[in-house]
Amino acid sequence: MTTNATSDTFSNHPYTVTGSGTHHKMACPDCTNTLHTHPGTTRSRRTCRGCKTKWLILGNLDAGEPCTMRRLHGASTQVVERTVTTGDTDEAAVRSIVLEAMKEIVPAIKSKVEANAEAGRAYTDEAVASVAPIVRKLIAPVSKTVEITGDRHYCYDELMETITALNLAFLVGPAGSGKTTLCEQVAKDLEMDFGFLSCTEGLSEAHILGRMDINGNYIPSDFVRIFEGGGVFLFDEIDAMDSNVAIVLNEALANGNLSVPNRPDAPIAKKHPETIIIAAANTFGTGASAVYVGRNQLDGATLDRFSAAQIAVNYDHDREAALAAGYGISSLVKKIWAIRENALQAKVRRPVSTRWVVNGGKLHAGNPEKWNDKALLAKLMCAWTEQERAKVLTGELSGLA
Ligand SMILES: Nc1ncnc2c1ncn2[C@@H]1O[C@H](COP(=O)(O)OP(=O)(O)OP(=O)(O)O)[C@@H](O)[C@H]1O
Ligand SMILES: [Mg+2]
Repeated sequence: MTTNATSDTFSNHPYTVTGSGTHHKMACPDCTNTLHTHPGTTRSRRTCRGCKTKWLILGNLDAGEPCTMRRLHGASTQVVERTVTTGDTDEAAVRSIVLEAMKEIVPAIKSKVEANAEAGRAYTDEAVASVAPIVRKLIAPVSKTVEITGDRHYCYDELMETITALNLAFLVGPAGSGKTTLCEQVAKDLEMDFGFLSCTEGLSEAHILGRMDINGNYIPSDFVRIFEGGGVFLFDEIDAMDSNVAIVLNEALANGNLSVPNRPDAPIAKKHPETIIIAAANTFGTGASAVYVGRNQLDGATLDRFSAAQIAVNYDHDREAALAAGYGISSLVKKIWAIRENALQAKVRRPVSTRWVVNGGKLHAGNPEKWNDKALLAKLMCAWTEQERAKVLTGELSGLA
């Protein structure tokens, strides 16, 4: 080890440039070999030809000007190597050189390791997320994290988002598209009480608000129980309900108060903060359609309660494909999709619903030989007229059913 190297620290070296012309000279602090720099520059990297140490020279590199020489990271390795090869080992000096070098090197290595670790962590998180159950965080009305392990209808997330923000939702979609099932699943996933009313014109206010028995005792309805106690309540087929009866819900939907005239001792029910009200319908409540002829036009004020809460629910191909695979009718489900599309195009007023997959699948599972695609389609379309069948069973579907 040369005196120069042992006495040096690995911080800055004040040094003065000498010489003139195109090359200025300065001595290598390690071995005193001559380094050349260019005048007029303020920053220069030089490797000493003698000891191979790399230097960063900073400052005004004109002759006579003081400048700073900074040993670069690689240099420490060379100094140590040089010590070992000469056999002139000064252990304390080597240790001090290495320790000083480590001070500079370790933070750089550490930040590199951390950056790699960060990238590795992101990759791991991604990999874990791809196999872990989907976790959804609901803020309101129920502060709860829901872990979902199975598949859900494609509208599930939108429904969760809507009820989280508004405490209510209005699901609109064709028959058998999964509206009722969605509501049941949401209540189950949230581990909440679930109640529902299948609405018809015969539904009375007492079905919604509860009634009084012959002894004058109040018999609560499921709706009042959930309204006051929390849970998910579904008004299924709300567009089949008498629009005037539906008006009793208006206050409940808007202000969180429900008038319960059959309960004299507590005639006003207060909505529980964790009550979610969902309505499901085949129409938007604007009256009967060509397919859904038994539907009523709902009062504008009732519909207004559901502003921004409407969700259009359609058939979920992924769910249907999964159901069909489970029943062993994957070839049938493709035909069902084609029939559905053709029926839509030809304006055939028949629902071609997920129930075709579920019920057809069940028949097939009981007797796969008998219930092949052709036999199932004949069964599923037995109520269709010849003309209707001719309109949808075109191309490759011709002759089926
Ligand atoms: N996510 C799902 N997974 C498995 N089966 C489903 C799913 N969604 C719906 N189904 C099945 O599809 C059929 C129709 O679903 P559902 O009764 O929920 O539809 P709907 O939209 O409420 O129909 P409607 O308008 O006639 O009341 C049912 O047999 C149901 O079991
Ligand atoms: Mg339903």
